[in-house]
Amino acid sequence: MHDEIETAKPKRFMCSFVEPSHLEKEAAGKSIADLVDDGMIVGLGTGTTVAHAIVHLGRRIADEGLSISGVPTSYQSMLLAIEHRVPLASLYEHEIIDIALDGADQVDSHLHLIKGGGGAHTREKIVARAARRFCVAVDASKLAPRLNLPVPLEVLPFACPVVRSEVRRMGASAKLRRFEQNRAYVTHQGNLILDAHFGIIRDPRKLAIELSAIPGVVEHGIFTNVSEVHVARIREKSATVEILTP
Ligand code: 5RP
Repeated sequence: MHDEIETAKPKRFMCSFVEPSHLEKEAAGKSIADLVDDGMIVGLGTGTTVAHAIVHLGRRIADEGLSISGVPTSYQSMLLAIEHRVPLASLYEHEIIDIALDGADQVDSHLHLIKGGGGAHTREKIVARAARRFCVAVDASKLAPRLNLPVPLEVLPFACPVVRSEVRRMGASAKLRRFEQNRAYVTHQGNLILDAHFGIIRDPRKLAIELSAIPGVVEHGIFTNVSEVHVARIREKSATVEILTP
């Protein structure tokens, strides 16, 4: 690819800006895992917060005899589910999912989300779309009045220079995501990720439509269909969880 493509530093996407406590992530993750009932097909998102939900589901299966099937959105979540004995299934067996559990990178006051910090937003969006209920767990550091983080775009490698110039034409900068040894980050689908920085996003729904219309953008990280967001914060040394609905 043309070497003038700016690249994003990898670490920024491996963790949040302010590393929240393990306790908050665990409380939020457990809270969404407790929404799961016997017999449900459960979407398993990706990331360090929803990992706590997967572990808690494994515990509930062992302790309560909960019978569920999980549809994972990444190899990381698949392997974690296997480790914790959460039975797995796929969209080929269950095209309707009862509840999708996931995390997010940022949540605005209308509960629009930016996702894709872990590069799994395409599968996460498909699973969220297939779900009757899409429930997200975050720590309070992820809340913002308006979305302003870079929006991850999963892009066909062939289309990357064209998508980058389209995004620039829309007034954003776009950086190719890289990780160790400066290698390009490649998604599970074999695509690249451009992180597109629009500054404050005043109308996430409009931007979502515009991004979806760019040829070569496989999926963007703006999510506008959340059912509920479980927000954990530390109060007096223990985590409390608040449930936000649109
Ligand atoms: C992965 C995602 C994650 O849900 C998001 O990056 C949040 O991750 P974490 O819970 O580790 O902060 O969208 O594509």
